[in-house]
Amino acid sequence: MNATRTIRQVFSGRPTLEGAGVRLKRIFGFNEVPVFDPFLMMDDFGASDPEDYVAGFPWHPHRGIETVTYMLHGTVEHGDSLGNKGTIGDGQVQWMTAGCGIIHQEMPQPQEDYLRGLQLWVNLPAKNKMMPPRYRDIRAADIPDHKDKNGVRVKVIAGRYKDAIGPVKDIVRGPEYLDVHLPAGKPFEHGIARGQTVFVYVLEGEGAFDAGKKTITAGRLALYGDGERISVEAGRDGVRFVCISGQPIGEPVAWGGPIVMNIQEELDLAFREYRNGTFIK
Ligand code: FE2
Repeated sequence: MNATRTIRQVFSGRPTLEGAGVRLKRIFGFNEVPVFDPFLMMDDFGASDPEDYVAGFPWHPHRGIETVTYMLHGTVEHGDSLGNKGTIGDGQVQWMTAGCGIIHQEMPQPQEDYLRGLQLWVNLPAKNKMMPPRYRDIRAADIPDHKDKNGVRVKVIAGRYKDAIGPVKDIVRGPEYLDVHLPAGKPFEHGIARGQTVFVYVLEGEGAFDAGKKTITAGRLALYGDGERISVEAGRDGVRFVCISGQPIGEPVAWGGPIVMNIQEELDLAFREYRNGTFIK
């Protein structure tokens, strides 16, 4: 069997109105369960017109998941029920474990040019769903930016590329999250253990993403079949993409908006607790 992974399915995402009226692109989500296991959702948010994003995501609860927000450009202000407050700016990452419950808000700030960020939801296994919530901000300067001799650049947010190890370490499913820039025509090979769920999402440009030379353009996501590595070759204008992988959980998913548990009774309890003010433990 060929150990280089081939593309199993390509996703274009769909326009979605979220929060208090943010126009974003949902690359995958509820409808795709369980093919991205352990990942639940990824949104590409932002626009050039602030009207499309300033309404933001006012106070809302989460339980049972971890969220990873990667700001490509612009600033989001946030605050949460743990007392954290601050901003995430260009190249910064915010990683939050909702665990048993967190209430937070995420408010994109108006930019003169544009705002763009990615939010990824990673599921928690049943035994970790009710863990204490936690939160971390990672500065852009703390994300290693590995440069190969041929001009290939890999920012390692989580996991490892060659000798660079990402600062986001304690996500329960231990995913790998790379931001890869390839100059025109340059190749990229990366080993990812068999059994892991792997996808790439193209941010800019285009490239051939598997041995069949399937071209994927900006704004599209390619989900891979199983194998031991991925093999990419940049198109004539180069390509920038994120490559994300993680170990599937293989448990039932009961999903109600911002809360993701295993069974319906746990969802009902979470919403009951949210209504009667006992959600935060
Ligand atoms: Fe949120």
